[in-house]
Amino acid sequence: MSTFHIAVFVALIGTFLGTKIQCAPLIEELNPAPLTDFYKLFNNPDAHLALAKAPTTIDFIEEHGYPAERHYVTTEDGYIISLFRIPYSHNLKNQDVKRPIVFLQHGLFASSDIWPSLGPNDGLPFLLSDAGYDVWLGNTRGNRFSRNHTSLSTKHPNFWRFSWHEIGYFDIAAAIDYTLSTENGLGQDGIHYVGHSQGTTVMLVLMSSRPEYNRKIKTSHLLAPVAFMDNMDDFMVNTLSPYLGYNNVYSTLFCSQEFLPHNDFVLALFYNVCQPDSVVSSFCSGTEDTQKEEGRTNATAESLFSGVSPAGVSTDQIVHYMQEHQSTHFRQFDFGTKKNLKLYGSEVPPDYPTELITSKMHLWYSDNDEMSAVEDVLRLAATLPNKEMHHMEDKLWDHMDFINNWKVRQYINDPIIAFINEYETK
Ligand SMILES: *[C@@H]1O[C@H](CO)[C@@H](O)[C@H](O)[C@H]1NC(C)=O
Ligand SMILES: *[C@@H]1O[C@H](CO)[C@@H](O)[C@H](O)[C@H]1NC(C)=O
Repeated sequence: MSTFHIAVFVALIGTFLGTKIQCAPLIEELNPAPLTDFYKLFNNPDAHLALAKAPTTIDFIEEHGYPAERHYVTTEDGYIISLFRIPYSHNLKNQDVKRPIVFLQHGLFASSDIWPSLGPNDGLPFLLSDAGYDVWLGNTRGNRFSRNHTSLSTKHPNFWRFSWHEIGYFDIAAAIDYTLSTENGLGQDGIHYVGHSQGTTVMLVLMSSRPEYNRKIKTSHLLAPVAFMDNMDDFMVNTLSPYLGYNNVYSTLFCSQEFLPHNDFVLALFYNVCQPDSVVSSFCSGTEDTQKEEGRTNATAESLFSGVSPAGVSTDQIVHYMQEHQSTHFRQFDFGTKKNLKLYGSEVPPDYPTELITSKMHLWYSDNDEMSAVEDVLRLAATLPNKEMHHMEDKLWDHMDFINNWKVRQYINDPIIAFINEYETK
């Protein structure tokens, strides 16, 4: 999750530039005025050029000849999220036969763009499409494709009052129901689910808090599962979570706001901060070093994707993860004793009852994952009644390798498709 480091770093720089971290909305600071000043400050005429017209997931899909659709889904609490879809394969011309549904959910700071960025030879959505599936790509509330609500404006702080709890409980539930309600979905028993990082957390939230959803799941594939976090060893999280992982003045100031909105200001910041001649460029490259030096990933795909990252999150998603890191629990958001009592009827938030997750969970994990420690994955697995473990043999396999390692097709994508095929043919 190197984007995470850059993101936090940019936020810190942002503080110096006047985007104060405070609970009040950041709207004023992000308006065009400081933005213009910022460009002047860095005196970099290329910045605007590089930011011209960000592609969407539709572009990433259609570029390779596959049909692409965008669907808008309204959640029970009024958020309007976007799902992208490769409805059928133009290679198979299978639009008139029933296609089993597979749903893919991205991680923190990402969007549906991350899945097709690897291209048709390796990218999971393309491989699934050519294997005959109806492929859906989710987007969390607040990210670049899901910034709308039936009554709230993104400029209102109430829009940003959500963590990954609400993403699991509402967004993923609505998305699953929506895919099953389409013409192709009607009559299907359920879906196959693939999630990366936060995309695994939200699945565990939904399946444990609304266990009735388990019967809509055929198989789940959790790549780099994140639930318990106390053994993770990430510098930035270790540094920040003692401050943000509790209900205190720091977390209160940081809470419920848009963190790194997907806009020109932040993208320019990224762009400039990570220029080769920038004084802090070692920070940007530093975080990617292990991957790049060993040539472990498709750099073309990475740069395609970083052009549209970070995709936008609420600070509460980060605070909630920091709370997990400090509390050693996988549990709901800690609002402080008073509000917890009112909301949950207990001083501390309730644990997610993961033992209620009866649908089949495939856990894909590795030794070198800085966000998802083996001990934490095993602790989660011990609570799951119906699981299959897939430990990566490559000792260097890390958090992002599950998405863009050169060998991701061989070690992750093809095996997942084989499990899904096996389910469908049995
Ligand atoms: C690397 O990613 C690019 C961009 O999506 C893709 O076109 C290319 O085929 C990928 N390379 C390999 C060898 O898979
Ligand atoms: C937001 O959703 C409403 C429907 O509730 C729609 O009318 C409006 O066009 C949408 N706004 C954007 C920016 O997509």
